[in-house]
Amino acid sequence: MGIAAVTHDRDWLEVRFDDGVTRRFLGTWLRDNITSGRHRDDGQRTFDINALPEVSIAGATSDADSATVTFAPEGIDGTYYEQWFRQHGSTNGTSAGVTPSPTLWGAEHQGSLRFADYPTLVEDPAALLEWLVEIRDLGFGLLENVPVTPGSIVGAVDLFGYVRFTNYGEIFEVRDEPNPANLAFTKLRIGMHTDNPYRDPVPGLQLLQCLVNESDGGDNQLVDGFAIADQIRNDHPEAFNLLTSHPVRFRYLDGDSADLQSFMPVIQLDAQGRVVCIRYNSRSVQAFEMPEDVIADYYRAYRTLGELLHEPGACVEFRLEPGQLMAFDNQRVLHGRTAYTTGARHLQGCYADKDSLHSRIRVLESAR
Ligand SMILES: [Fe+2]
Repeated sequence: MGIAAVTHDRDWLEVRFDDGVTRRFLGTWLRDNITSGRHRDDGQRTFDINALPEVSIAGATSDADSATVTFAPEGIDGTYYEQWFRQHGSTNGTSAGVTPSPTLWGAEHQGSLRFADYPTLVEDPAALLEWLVEIRDLGFGLLENVPVTPGSIVGAVDLFGYVRFTNYGEIFEVRDEPNPANLAFTKLRIGMHTDNPYRDPVPGLQLLQCLVNESDGGDNQLVDGFAIADQIRNDHPEAFNLLTSHPVRFRYLDGDSADLQSFMPVIQLDAQGRVVCIRYNSRSVQAFEMPEDVIADYYRAYRTLGELLHEPGACVEFRLEPGQLMAFDNQRVLHGRTAYTTGARHLQGCYADKDSLHSRIRVLESAR
């Protein structure tokens, strides 16, 4: 495969590849992406667009591997390789490589649950990569044999990134007392939710590690919010439109130390219409602020979402024992907990960002 020929006019370079494909590239785009305009070591562009004159193509030559273009009025040359044309010359940009393609799942995934071995992940980059890819694609990963010592959850985050500090601190405690003094220490079931929808940005990853579990229940439940959103998009398109286009307010108020608020849709889409974030938390969502002709339909849509999130066919369920940990995409996977009646239960949790997870995956993949 190579370049068969190039032709040009003032504004456009036309490249005919030897497989018969012909593509046109704008001169300004070529000049903007000239190799010499990027730092040799980190690939960062060294100039702003306003530093460029109005560009035209003064000449172009090619051989099988590359094309060299001369730009006016500067009179400088840029060389572009066939591979580069093919990689970068997409006519319709996608978020490939940035936004992962999720593998959607439901309760049938229960049989495929697996706990990775923490000491192995610390030693073996291939095993670590496999676990991180699982978190990226499924939205969660499970780990076992993590030291059962307070704070060891940070070691799990160190595998790929950094703990995100919040006003809850570096680590937060999920502890239930045998004789609860108030609602905060209840053993009641906790419905499906995402954490901290009132933050901007919402924490991308949450990790929860079990230190003590002597309870007679308290199993963890996870549901794939992207799978549910997909189901609503297909089966209830009107509901999907309402849930993606009408923001709601989330709030966390803590005396005079914190008043966190956001105003965002429950299902958030990116510029290409892909679901990128679910915000669902009955405790922190505030009274809906919507027009009269919307709010009744919105409630129906919101109820549909709530019902689907809590259907038995949607979730996987497992018990975390001391030394076991779950890491999940808090912008995609909702978590809940079954009720229990007796026994101590102590988990520690923390947040982290997804960009470092994805970065670590790319680095480990390129090192293979
Ligand atoms: Fe939570």
